[in-house]
Amino acid sequence: MGALNANRVARGDNDWTSNMSNLHSQNGRRIAIAVGLLLFTAGCKGTDRGPTDVDAYSSFVSDTGDIKFPSNFPTGFVFIGSWAVSGTAGVSEIHAVYARPTDVSNYQETGKFLDGAVLVKEVSNTLGSPHTTGNAFWANDTKTWFMMIKDSKQRFPSNPLWGDGWGWAEFNPATKKQISTNYKTDCQTCHIPVSQSDWVYAYAYPILGPKAQAIRPKNAVTGHQAEAMLEHSAEVIAKVAGNGVDSGKAAFGKNCAACHSVTVGGTGIGPSLAAVVGRKAGALPGYEYSPAMSKSKVIWTPENISKHIEKPKELIPGNRMANLFPRGVQDAKQRADIVAYLETVK
Ligand code: HEC
Ligand code: HEC
Repeated sequence: MGALNANRVARGDNDWTSNMSNLHSQNGRRIAIAVGLLLFTAGCKGTDRGPTDVDAYSSFVSDTGDIKFPSNFPTGFVFIGSWAVSGTAGVSEIHAVYARPTDVSNYQETGKFLDGAVLVKEVSNTLGSPHTTGNAFWANDTKTWFMMIKDSKQRFPSNPLWGDGWGWAEFNPATKKQISTNYKTDCQTCHIPVSQSDWVYAYAYPILGPKAQAIRPKNAVTGHQAEAMLEHSAEVIAKVAGNGVDSGKAAFGKNCAACHSVTVGGTGIGPSLAAVVGRKAGALPGYEYSPAMSKSKVIWTPENISKHIEKPKELIPGNRMANLFPRGVQDAKQRADIVAYLETVK
């Protein structure tokens, strides 16, 4: 956080160069000044400009709104927080998020990212192995970089990378070339859950202070209690997946239609799934369920359907679909789409 402090000092004292040359004559303080200067350079060089600077956009945004990767990253930025994305048996990605020191102190004061603020998310693939702490994973190669640049003045209305108060970009890790073509399709749908907080998942960045915590999800649990989270992830994805129903219909055709009809009274190896959402398990008149299914108290909520098709053996042990379709559907997005489709089948 040295860089942050250095930056505050620099902003508060425009005349720092002359102060420094006065101090320079005092031999004993030279080292301290050198360190101070280094910190200042680290904090400010190139990208670190206050939001009032005219050229807040000049260093990596062209006059038509093309976005370049900051040449001096990560110098000029401070780490603000990280995400660990779980795979089936460990951490599959680590996301590290950075902002400029100015953006952090402005947020601490105002509870907002001010014009010109820059957020960089570095996505890394992981490696993991047993350690003395348990199974531990670390960031390996960079998979991609995402970047958002705050724009409260709608500078580039005709550029599809700019809108809703930000410039949005993604970079190829090898070439550092910008690869996103349209923020609405490439980025925004996934940020809908945080539209209330200027499209940023701010609660994950403790350095932003208490104002960023206002939007923390109510159902957040500690990693030690993470089981409870699994049932919600499909739901969250389903909410933002605009085309979920169409692709869910296709995925249903591929995975389920061999055994399940979706018409009322339709027959098959499995029961008809017409109006299944909200129905009690094992309750369709005329279908011969296994004892496990007909005795089950499960209600087919979207979460339960998702669980059942993820691991057909687990939610209702002993049900007959478990052996007929043991692999289930492993892709969370596909499960969410199938559930979204079933919600439309009355
Ligand atoms: C698959 C969904 C998804 C897509 C697509 C996506 N994001 Fe995100 N983004 C997220 C989530 C969720 C987070 C926070 C959690 C995480 O990183 O796992 C996030 C975090 C970020 C962050 C860190 C700051 C913050 O909001 O917390 C930046 C910057 C970012 N995204 C930019 C972009 C840009 C730019 C694009 C498009 C080029 C994009 N994202 C596309 C889901 C997505
Ligand atoms: C190979 C056949 C087969 C496939 C494929 C299959 N199911 Fe099933 N499913 C069954 C059978 C059989 C049952 C009845 C289980 C029992 O009675 O124990 C069942 C039961 C169900 C039930 C409970 C319905 C009720 O009335 O209680 C749901 C929900 C369900 N399946 C959803 C799906 C979905 C969604 C897919 C596709 C992702 C799928 N199934 C794929 C055979 C299959």
